[in-house]
Amino acid sequence: MKSLYHRIAALLVLSIVSVVGLATFAASRVLEPPDAREILTPVVSQMRLTLALITTDRDGAIAAGADLESRPPEGQYHERLTDALLDMLRQDGIHMQALVNKTSGTPPMMASVRTPDGEWAVFRIPHRAPPSDWPYILGGWMLLIVLGSLAISFFIASKITRPLELLEGAAERIGQDGRLPQIPEEGSREVRATARALNRLSARLRSALESRMRLVAAAGHDLRTPMTRMRLRAEFISSDEEREKWLSDLEELDSIADSAIGLVREETSDAGPELIRLDLMVGLITEELARIGFSVCLDHLGQATVLAHPMALKRALRNLVINAATHGGGAHWTLDTSATDAILTIVDAGPGIPEDLLGQVFEPFFRVDPARRKTAPGAGLGLAIAKEIVNRFGGDIEIANRPTGGLLQTVRLPLA
Ligand SMILES: Nc1ncnc2c1ncn2[C@@H]1O[C@H](COP(=O)(O)OP(=O)(O)O)[C@@H](O)[C@H]1O
Ligand SMILES: [Mg+2]
Repeated sequence: MKSLYHRIAALLVLSIVSVVGLATFAASRVLEPPDAREILTPVVSQMRLTLALITTDRDGAIAAGADLESRPPEGQYHERLTDALLDMLRQDGIHMQALVNKTSGTPPMMASVRTPDGEWAVFRIPHRAPPSDWPYILGGWMLLIVLGSLAISFFIASKITRPLELLEGAAERIGQDGRLPQIPEEGSREVRATARALNRLSARLRSALESRMRLVAAAGHDLRTPMTRMRLRAEFISSDEEREKWLSDLEELDSIADSAIGLVREETSDAGPELIRLDLMVGLITEELARIGFSVCLDHLGQATVLAHPMALKRALRNLVINAATHGGGAHWTLDTSATDAILTIVDAGPGIPEDLLGQVFEPFFRVDPARRKTAPGAGLGLAIAKEIVNRFGGDIEIANRPTGGLLQTVRLPLA
């Protein structure tokens, strides 16, 4: 009952059923069973006539339909109606034995009066009681109301919550690139208005994102020229030590500008994916990194084919493995597959990342300890770029500390 849809439906059902239930109760109160006098009036006048006829012409009375028996019909004695009957007869000046009893036949009630000859004249009491199967009828009636109100309520609830569903669906379909797919502007007025608002929001977001990207790329680019000039000038610094410092700082600046441009390129890239033998790529990366001096060890290599852009995916995986090799002091990685995904795990035995900072690792320019830059160069963009790429191809990266120390990075990519 968590969703608004179910709550609205439940509220509607509850209100319909309780209103109809109350109305039924009120109606049943107002429509009380007819009172005894009303039921017996025709019977009493019939009795009066019949008794008069019997005393004068018994055979004529029988021929006219009078029912004369030696004793009253079998059946349970009805006290309330009997009292009322005696009362009414007495008012008419008839002081005779009389009674009403319930029989098993139709009509269910019979009135009998004792004639002066000791016979019993029996009269049918018109049937005015509620039908004997009233519990079933009432049950059916309530069931119909509940079913009807359920159908109506779910229909109305779905209409009411449609704009919200639209919002939820749109939010879910926001791509990994932060783009909102176009929503068709059709349906009721509220739905159209919601769709239009979402589409406007999406357009604004897109243009804001693009202008931010352009800005970062332009800044990265424009830095290049003054940096080249500075590098030239640094060459003229006479002190060797001083010159080295300048050149190393400039190199770092260069790598930051490079990564920034790289991130923008990944975020705005539309490069189409192709089928990649992930195991071959993993083997290659291991070899390449080992050759240039990183401590990388491939522990297990399953076979997997994924759909991605080879250059981009390679960059992403390299970033993760290099992190484990540099920040973590040595990378061990494995490639496995599940029913749907290729699963790469990269572990190291380094310091890991403080738990409270784990949520920020994918943010651009995030570094656990900016002072560590001296020992491990980097701009803090490696993970941001890797995530961008892996997400683009439908996968995701998870980063967690290992209980035994060090970091565990898990990459999942859907199998092709
Ligand atoms: N395997 C790791 N072990 C410990 N810290 C790590 C590891 N990988 C990443 N980090 C931390 O996350 C930060 C961000 O990583 P990254 O985005 O690759 O940037 P960079 O490597 O350029 O600093 C790193 O600066 C480092 O502090
Ligand atoms: Mg890095």
